[in-house]
Amino acid sequence: MKISFAKPALPSEGAIVVGVLEGRELTPSAADLDARTGGALTRAMASSRFEGKKEQSLTVMVPVGISASRLVAVGLGKASDLDMSAAQALGGSVVALLAGSGEQEAAVMIDDITDGPVDRTEMAAHAALGATLRSYRFDKYRTKEKPEDKPSLRKLRFLTADPEAAQDAFALLEPVAAAVAFTRDLVSEPANVIHPESFAEAAMTLSEQGVAVEVLGEKQMRKLGMGALLGVGQGSERESQLVVMRWNGASDKKSPPIVFVGKGVTFDSGGISLKPGANMEDMKWDMGGAAVVTGLLRALAARKARVNAVGVVGLVENMPSGTAQRPGDVVTSLSGQTIEVINTDAEGRLVLADALWYAQDRFKPKAMIDLATLTGAIVIALGTEHAGLFSNDDILAGQLLDAGKAVGEPLWRLPLGEGYDKQIKSDIADMQNVGGRDAGSITAAQFLQRFVNKAPWAHLDIAGVTWAKKDTALTPKGSTAFGLRLLDRLVADHFEETGEVRRKAGKKNRKAASSPS
Ligand code: BES
Ligand code: MN
Ligand code: ZN
Repeated sequence: MKISFAKPALPSEGAIVVGVLEGRELTPSAADLDARTGGALTRAMASSRFEGKKEQSLTVMVPVGISASRLVAVGLGKASDLDMSAAQALGGSVVALLAGSGEQEAAVMIDDITDGPVDRTEMAAHAALGATLRSYRFDKYRTKEKPEDKPSLRKLRFLTADPEAAQDAFALLEPVAAAVAFTRDLVSEPANVIHPESFAEAAMTLSEQGVAVEVLGEKQMRKLGMGALLGVGQGSERESQLVVMRWNGASDKKSPPIVFVGKGVTFDSGGISLKPGANMEDMKWDMGGAAVVTGLLRALAARKARVNAVGVVGLVENMPSGTAQRPGDVVTSLSGQTIEVINTDAEGRLVLADALWYAQDRFKPKAMIDLATLTGAIVIALGTEHAGLFSNDDILAGQLLDAGKAVGEPLWRLPLGEGYDKQIKSDIADMQNVGGRDAGSITAAQFLQRFVNKAPWAHLDIAGVTWAKKDTALTPKGSTAFGLRLLDRLVADHFEETGEVRRKAGKKNRKAASSPS
């Protein structure tokens, strides 16, 4: 989708999109077009249920009086609710309405809504972001799609008083949208294409953005003592990998980083504790956490975030074979703690055990956040509306909840507690990897907590939100990249230096404050 910004002018072809506020209150552009078309819009409204509410729309085809091929009214809801998310939803709904309509281009009128919370420049930029996110498609394997089944819409123009300013504002959002698409691609790829090594290769492309990328193979991990992660991958023909990505954007390159850790099970068959066949294909997206971490590092680097951030992803394929780990095996994790593997399908926590310990030990993080499609139980508890949040730090948990709300990727906090420890007691090792059916997501989080040492930490269980079965405002069905915009927002709000700090640091040490390499 080609996105551009221009000054308001009547387009001679394609669709024109105008906003209507709740109560059928026309925005200035809507009123202007209504007048030019001899009242077509008001007449169409009068004979429909369109009220200008959010998610409503109304199309007038080939209206007399203008040369554009259609006039589309989209409901904006109440003026006072027109925030950035509403602007994004607006852009998303324009794409949803017109993508397969036959139109090749559309112009969206962005008016000044006087009592709205954001100005029209921000409105235009966020509408463009929403349109970009919603127009994502993964179609590389469709070789026989008929032209009439392909999206027709190619160009989207946002018309606003100060297009240069809108373009500048969009330039700050666009890297995040590009990173979301990168993550969605990784997650959508089948497991014969994305396996631990090819995932690591994809992560290596982040060096183009200035991210330092290291890849550890099995030999190095064995030397370090990552018995928990390696045990999961030992049944696979593919070599397990651990990827470390570092973005040093803070003026003090040595200041402790915020660290993100991702579960990257490129395919989860369950291993010897084999999963049932139905829907097993879903387990290609069991690397969603790792893909979000990788995309996030790419976004932070691309927008030159003033933060030191590290991404660590544990990449394995969980397969049954003659070399696979057996139920009952005992593995020694990097932390030294031993784990009895009761169920080889509870593999994500084994991968994270070593990735988390490695991350906190090496980087001494300011905060450490992991993302994992960890448990089916979180889908039972929260469905697809919220991801699960677990944390040993109330401040960090609060910041994450706020960021999730702000970007429309909501979290719901669940408890940790010593009481749950008895469920993961083992008869022969320090712990076992499953805690029974009760509180399955909590015992998994409680297990992870044993590998974070004392770092301020949060765990996001994203099993219910990583893959969408239906279209939503900003996400076509399929891979969502849930968590990426949330964590980008968390960094921006709480972990990035302000311009002030940076200027001060620059005075002290001009060299250190120069643009990150
Ligand atoms: N990757 C799965 C969890 C999952 C399930 C993600 C459904 C997305 C959708 C995880 O590795 C797993 O198999 N968990 C088991 C744990 C159990 C054996 C304790 C589960 O949730 O059933
Ligand atoms: Mn599993
Ligand atoms: Zn899994």
